[in-house]
Amino acid sequence: MKKYKIGLVGCGRISAKHIEAVKNIEKAELAAVCDIDEERASSVAERSGLANYYLSYDRMLEQEDIDIVNILTPSGMHAEHTIDIVKKYKKHIIVEKPMALRTSDADAMIRTCDLNSVRLFVVKQNRYNLPVRKLRSALENGDFGRLFLGTVRVRWCRDQRYYDMDEWRGTWRYDGGVLANQASHHIDLLEWMLGTPVSVMAKTETFMSNIEVDDTAAAIIKFENGAMGIIEATTATRPHDIEGSVSILGEKGSVVIGGFAVNKMVTWNFNGLSDGARLKILSEFAENPPNVYGFGHIRYIEHVIDCIENNKQALVDGLEGRKSLELINAIYESAETGREVELKFRPKMSRLGN
Ligand SMILES: NC(=O)c1ccc[n+]([C@@H]2O[C@H](COP(=O)([O-])OP(=O)(O)OC[C@H]3O[C@@H](n4cnc5c(N)ncnc54)[C@H](O)[C@@H]3O)[C@@H](O)[C@H]2O)c1
Repeated sequence: MKKYKIGLVGCGRISAKHIEAVKNIEKAELAAVCDIDEERASSVAERSGLANYYLSYDRMLEQEDIDIVNILTPSGMHAEHTIDIVKKYKKHIIVEKPMALRTSDADAMIRTCDLNSVRLFVVKQNRYNLPVRKLRSALENGDFGRLFLGTVRVRWCRDQRYYDMDEWRGTWRYDGGVLANQASHHIDLLEWMLGTPVSVMAKTETFMSNIEVDDTAAAIIKFENGAMGIIEATTATRPHDIEGSVSILGEKGSVVIGGFAVNKMVTWNFNGLSDGARLKILSEFAENPPNVYGFGHIRYIEHVIDCIENNKQALVDGLEGRKSLELINAIYESAETGREVELKFRPKMSRLGN
C-alpha cells in the first residue's frame, strides 16, 4: 500500500488539525514540517515525532521526498507559496481556506497547477460534517422541493488578544475580515446548497476590535434558482462563541444545522415525516466538536488521497474553492459601494443567444 508523504508549510494553529488527520489516515504519513519561526517548527516536529524540521519550504522540498504539500500559512500568502512550490517542485497542493484573498490570485493558482499537472485542493472540511452530508443528500434526493431561503450564521468570539496574536490577523492584505476568514466555510456551504448566486447586497462594520478589517457583516443574496440567502457573520460575540450554523428552507421541509461548527442537527422537518423518524435523525447527528475547527480534516484529507490515487474529481478543487471567494469579494464590493453587486455576466442581447 502506497503511503502519501505529506509536508506542512506553516506550523501555526491549524497545523495540529493536519497532523491529527494525517495520523488517522492509513495511507498518509507526515514526512516533514517547516516554518520560518523556528520555535514553532521545532515544537511541532517534536510533538509529531519528526527528527528534523525546516526553516524554509525550499530546504524541506529539496531534501525530503514529499507527495503532497499542505499550505498552512496566512491566507494572503497562499497564492505566492502555492505558485512558487508548484512551479519549482511540482507537488500536489492542499491549501487551507480561504484559498486566496483576491480572485486574480485564485486564478493564477488554478492556472499554475493545471499547467504543471498537479492537483489543487482547498480545505473546506465542514462539507464532510456528517449532518452537512445528510442535508446535502436530502437536497440531492429532491426532498426539499423548491428551495426558497438559506441562512448562515457565524457568531464567534475573537477578541483583541486573538487579533494581536500575529501581525497578519485583522489585516486586509493577509487576512480579510470575518467573511474571508471565519465565515468562508459557511458561505461555501450556502453556495453548495443553494447554487449559483446572481447578486448581493451587504453591510460590514468593525464593532469590537481595533483592527483594519470588519468584525461583523450582513448580506442578502439572490440565487439563480430564485432562492434568497442571508449571511450574518461576526467575531464580536461576547463573551463566548455561540454558533456556526446553516438553515435551508424549502417548500417541503426545513433543516437547521447548528453547534459551534455546523456539526449538530437542530431541526429536521419534512412533510409527512413521523416524530420518531425526526428524533432519530436529531440524535444520530448530534456531534458537537470541542472547538470550531470541527472533525472534518480527517475526512477531507482522506478524500484528497482518494482523488489523487484514483484520479477522481475533487469535491473542492481550485475552481470550486474560488466560488466562495468570488462571492466574498462581491459582498465586500457591495459594502464599499452601497450598491447591489451582480456576480456574473449574463448575455441579454448577444447574437449568440441569451
Ligand atoms: N480550516 C479551518 O477551519 C481553519 C482554521 C484555522 C485557520 N485556517 C487557515 O489556516 C491558515 C493559517 O492559520 P493559522 O491560524 O494556523 O495561522 P498561524 O499564524 O497560527 O500560522 C501560520 C504559520 O505560517 C508561518 N509562515 C509564514 N510564512 C511562512 C513561510 N514562507 N514558510 C513557512 N511558514 C511560514 C508562520 O510563521 C506561522 O507559524 C489561514 O489561512 C487560516 O485561514 C483554517
